[in-house]
Amino acid sequence: MAKKITLSIIKADIGSIGGHIKPSQKLLETVEGYVKTKGKKLIIDFYVGHTGDDIAILSTHRQGVLSESIHKLCWKALLEGTKVAKKQGLYGAGQDLLKDTFSGNVKGMGPAVAELEFEERPAEPFLMFAADKTEPGAYNLPLYLSFTDPMYSPGLMLSPSVKKGFKWVIMDVSHTKGDKVIELVSPEETYDIAALLRDNGRFVAEGVYSRASGERVVSVSTTRLHNIAGRYVGKDDPVMLVRAQKNFPATGEILAPYTIGHYVSGFMRGSHIGPLMPVKKNSSVSFFDGPPIVNCLAFCVKNGKLTEPADAFDHPYWDWVRDRVAQKAEEIRRQGFSGAAMLPMSELEYTGIVDTLKKLEKRFKVRKK
Ligand code: 13P
Ligand code: 13P
Ligand code: MG
Ligand code: MG
Repeated sequence: MAKKITLSIIKADIGSIGGHIKPSQKLLETVEGYVKTKGKKLIIDFYVGHTGDDIAILSTHRQGVLSESIHKLCWKALLEGTKVAKKQGLYGAGQDLLKDTFSGNVKGMGPAVAELEFEERPAEPFLMFAADKTEPGAYNLPLYLSFTDPMYSPGLMLSPSVKKGFKWVIMDVSHTKGDKVIELVSPEETYDIAALLRDNGRFVAEGVYSRASGERVVSVSTTRLHNIAGRYVGKDDPVMLVRAQKNFPATGEILAPYTIGHYVSGFMRGSHIGPLMPVKKNSSVSFFDGPPIVNCLAFCVKNGKLTEPADAFDHPYWDWVRDRVAQKAEEIRRQGFSGAAMLPMSELEYTGIVDTLKKLEKRFKVRKK
């Protein structure tokens, strides 16, 4: 039997130009150069790119998931990049590197991690998603629609193996003392899955598995920076790997829900609601430190060797979507801080408002009858 291959994405914000816009060219070259030279014997292939101010390292190797050597390589590449970010005076240098000492793997240290280990199929297409100015639950709705709803995913009707359904592993990310997860299956428990996935801030679809083959199809990062640092240090800009075709939804079925531009948490100071805009490779952020963006690179892999990426949202169709999503952003921005435009107190990333309310509380008076 062929030896298994592992895809690993490790992604972090280690500094960016002009606020939270994008990393410098030099920063990207430093990270890429480090992985290339130091990873020579360890990894088979790699790709480095950015989404807004976050740098993602995709690597292929045979070390399995949560491999200490792979994680250490990427961690050190990000540290090396941070040195450059500091030298260049970039904003938020080393922002997502929250721990000083490396202990086994980068989970819980700040970077977002998504990994898949599998035996390569004769043709192995997969998608690498990376989002900025939002949170891991941003993928909940698109995944739900691609894997349970024939309105978006006709494979659920047309393909006998896709029709067998999927097993979902969903994490309660509000639980900080370890990984609290539940397994549910679609289609039988679709309504229960929906009941959890509607709450993007609390429940995150971390993994999806094919019931036809048992293989893992999806891996989503579940980092909650706030829980690690105990204060706001940036949003948990999530990454995701999705394998496509055959027993899994087709690439176009996985992309289809991004036409919605659904409202997610993030945007300015990680404290607002904005529509998720599907963007091209290496896009920056702009309007109101946003809008929340997601990009998707499609690859094929053979014996660990990657093709060049195909930029899935670089197509005239998505230009039209982007225009509509910009309108959605404009609509909600017009009401500024009011009501649904901003996150509820429990999710607000800044303590400033809590301090203000505490101060004002003392000045409230209860009227005498
Ligand atoms: P092709 O016939 O072009 O391979 O497309 C098949 C398919 O699965 C499209 O979703
Ligand atoms: P990042 O999490 O992408 O660094 O954004 C932080 C922020 O506060 C933007 O306004
Ligand atoms: Mg940043
Ligand atoms: Mg970011």
